[in-house]
Amino acid sequence: MDFILVWKVTMILVLNFGGQYVHLIARRVREFGVYSEILPCDASLREIGKLKPDGIILSGGPASVYEHNAPAMDKKVLDLGIPILGICYGLQLIGKFVNGEVLGGKLKEFGKKELIVKKNGRLLKGMSKKEQVWMSHGDLVAKLPKDFEILASTDTCPIAAFENNERKIYGIQFHAEVVHTPKGSQVLQNFVFGICKAKKDWHIKNLSKKLIKEIKNEVGKNSVIMGVSGGVDSTVAATLMHKAIGNRVYCVFVDHGLIRKGEAEEIKNFFEKKLKFRHFYFVDASGIFLGKLGGIADPEEKRKIIGHTFIEVFENKVIELEKKHKNIKFLGQGTIYPDRIESAQPSKYASKIKSHHNITLPDKMKLKVIEPLKELYKDEVRKLGKELKVPAEILNRHPFPGPGLSIRILGEVTEERLRILREADYIFIEELKKSNYYNKTWQSFAALLPVKAVGVMGDARTYEYVISLRAVTSIDAMTADWAKLPNELLEKISNRIINEVGGVNRVLYDISQKPPATIEYE
Ligand code: XMP
Repeated sequence: MDFILVWKVTMILVLNFGGQYVHLIARRVREFGVYSEILPCDASLREIGKLKPDGIILSGGPASVYEHNAPAMDKKVLDLGIPILGICYGLQLIGKFVNGEVLGGKLKEFGKKELIVKKNGRLLKGMSKKEQVWMSHGDLVAKLPKDFEILASTDTCPIAAFENNERKIYGIQFHAEVVHTPKGSQVLQNFVFGICKAKKDWHIKNLSKKLIKEIKNEVGKNSVIMGVSGGVDSTVAATLMHKAIGNRVYCVFVDHGLIRKGEAEEIKNFFEKKLKFRHFYFVDASGIFLGKLGGIADPEEKRKIIGHTFIEVFENKVIELEKKHKNIKFLGQGTIYPDRIESAQPSKYASKIKSHHNITLPDKMKLKVIEPLKELYKDEVRKLGKELKVPAEILNRHPFPGPGLSIRILGEVTEERLRILREADYIFIEELKKSNYYNKTWQSFAALLPVKAVGVMGDARTYEYVISLRAVTSIDAMTADWAKLPNELLEKISNRIINEVGGVNRVLYDISQKPPATIEYE
């Protein structure tokens, strides 16, 4: 069932100790043109061996190596003869295993620090005597392990980088994977190319051909059913499936009644006319969803109702189609690499941030799951989509949450509130696109506040809803800043919304950052 990428020649394995930058490490390596995967830190030697890694990177993590139940890998990993680079917690673990001494640091380091490079060695090749690095640690290696050499330190961390060329074991206390370490990429490249001798053999170009071949092999003469949302991942996955097995792919779009203005036509148009899907099913379930949401104001309850109802409606459609088309044996999903890693390795050692809904979906279904994008990161999915000629307006679409407009209407969702929000949101997005600001923001949308304010229109007093506009810049949605849109643009949008959307007399612009706010309102 696992599909192996046939040209996967070089591979760098990242062992996950629960650090927040673990994906960043794998993505950096892939950006170099080298394939990289993540396994939980306690993966067995057999699991590791199966991947035949050319190098292993031990990630950072929030624990302390001497804590009870501290995450650890099999110590024998150090004796495999495969080059190892420990980052932060990874370095401390190497220190512990090879008889260095790790101390709970009294002098914690967080943020930018100056690294004093004493010796470049192989790992720090190309670094100057003083370099800026990003630190985030409480513990440190206080005593150098036997046969290791110190390469660098900071004013509070005596062993900030070490190496043992004979055993091919290396470590850095700083985070080379983040942009705040300007030469970090150089250090990782020194490891990947200089030490592991990796080849640049991971290319997005040609990927579609190989994935299509693999889908054909796996599906054989059977058919695949897929749920699509109109977002990047499911659309690229469906396009790929369609290219591989043509009319044997059945796509289902469940309209929960919480989509944006014009979205239903857009989706139908795209799948039926542009992609020429013969089997595209638009299931209008808005009545069921809105009925169940009646009178419900609690955000989590709304989410739960939508999640459960979605699965119910989708399952019913699948069962109906399965009866008619006996060769439907697979459920296609647009799962991408971070979704899979977060579900399979639910960061045992990290704090839980979010559970992902499309992973839980097929549990009850009898179909075999096929996930052609499961090895890819979002930016790779976009590149693949471009190669498959998926239109740019789909590839560059802002993320849209599963529960749709329901989490942008604070409190109870009603038909009237939905109408107002749809109109206001449409104007906002239309003006952002016209002024070329849409692609400069990560996400932009209108939200409806469940309060009414007094205003005056003509000579009459009004008492209407308040619309809040939210536009943010972000890299990965973990943190976000409010977008600095021009005043004139905001003024134009506000005027249009108040004049064109019945039921609104006030427009606000949200200037909160995440954290402490979140991007969505509920
Ligand atoms: P927050 O509001 O947590 O959002 O800052 C971060 C990103 O996640 C999206 N989001 C969701 N996506 N189901 C989804 O599929 C949800 O329940 C959900 N809540 C938030 C949000 O749009 C943003 O991109």
